[in-house]
Amino acid sequence: MKHLIDPTDLTKAETDEILRLASDMILDRGKYQDRMAHRRLATLFYEPSTRTRLSFTSAMMELGGGVLGFSDAGSSSVSKGETVQDTVRVVSCFADVIAMRHHLEGAPLAAAQVSPVPIINAGDGSHSHPTQTLTDLLTIQRELGHIDGITIGFCGDLRFGRTVHSLIKALARYDNVEVVLIAPDELRLPDYIRQDVCGRMGVSCREVKTIEEVMPQLDVLYMTRVQKERFLDEDEFDRVKDSFVLDNARMSLAKEKMAVLHPLPRVNEILPEVDADPRAAYFRQVENGKFVRMALICKLLEWKDDPAHGMPPKDDGISDVRCPNHRCISNSEAVEHKVRYGADGSLRCAWCDARISSK
Ligand code: CP
Repeated sequence: MKHLIDPTDLTKAETDEILRLASDMILDRGKYQDRMAHRRLATLFYEPSTRTRLSFTSAMMELGGGVLGFSDAGSSSVSKGETVQDTVRVVSCFADVIAMRHHLEGAPLAAAQVSPVPIINAGDGSHSHPTQTLTDLLTIQRELGHIDGITIGFCGDLRFGRTVHSLIKALARYDNVEVVLIAPDELRLPDYIRQDVCGRMGVSCREVKTIEEVMPQLDVLYMTRVQKERFLDEDEFDRVKDSFVLDNARMSLAKEKMAVLHPLPRVNEILPEVDADPRAAYFRQVENGKFVRMALICKLLEWKDDPAHGMPPKDDGISDVRCPNHRCISNSEAVEHKVRYGADGSLRCAWCDARISSK
C-alpha cells in the first residue's frame, strides 16, 4: 500500500512524476474532470486548516469525485474517545483515500498501519507536511523553471515549522541545492533534521542572523509564521514573535527573479506592501497546492496495489522506552513504542523522530 506520511515516502522519480502530472493538469484541466468519478476522499482534520483541507476538497471535486469527513474532530466520535486507528478503520469503509491532519506527531503513520486505503499526512504537529512540500516544489519549478542549483533561505520558525522540515528533506534529493537558515536561537532547525540533511545527505547548509546579509544571493526566500500554538511558554513566544519581517526595503536587496514563498497563514512576517511585488509567489503557491493534490490523489490510487511503488521501512523494532515527546501519538494512544536508528546512530522514536537516546 502506498501512503504519503513523509516526503521521502515518495522516491525522487515518484515525486517528479506527480509534479509532471500536476503541470499537465494546469495546462488541460478538462482532460482530468472525470478521473475520480465514483471515488471518495475523506478529509479528517483534527486541527484547523484553510488551504490544505479546502484544496484537497477542491482537488477531488475537479477530478469528479466526492468528499466526506470532518473539519472539527469535536463533532465526531473522537470526542467520545475513539482512537485514530479505529476512526480510520471505520472511515476506510466509506472512502478510497484519506487525508488526515492531526496535532499529535505520528498520528497519520499510526493510521497508515491499519488502513486498507492510502493515507495522506496533511500535517502532523510540528513534524511533517508532505503535501505542502509537493506544493512548494511545484511552485519553485514554475516560478524559476528548475529546482536543481537553487539557493533557498528559510526564515522564521524553523523549530516548529513542519513545512520547513519536510521541504528541506525533499530538496536534499535535488542537485546543488544550498540552504540558508535564518532564525533566532530559540527557533533553530531541530538537530535531527540538520544531522540528516546537512550531514548524511550532504546538503550545503549555513546559518545567518539577518535577512539582509543573504538576500542578494537567494533564488527563493521561504518565510514562515512563528507558531504560537506550539509554544508551552507564552513569554518565550513574545520574545521571538517579531523576529523577522519582510518589507519592500528588504525586497529591494533581492535578485530580480527571486521567489518569495510562504505556506500561509501569515501574521506579520510579510507586510501587505510586498503582495504587489511580482516576486511574491505565495498566493500562486496556494493554487499550485490544488493541482499537486489532484495529481497526488490520482497517483496514490494508481500505485495502491503496485509492488513497484511500496513504502520504505518505518522502524527498526519495538522498545520498552517511552518517547520523550509529549506531542507524540505513542504517548496518547495505545500504539507500540517503535524505534529506528537515525543517520547519526542515535535511537529515534519511529512515530515522531524524537531522540530517545544517543549512540
Ligand atoms: N499551508 C497550510 O498548511 O495552511 P492551512 O493550515 O490553512 O492548511
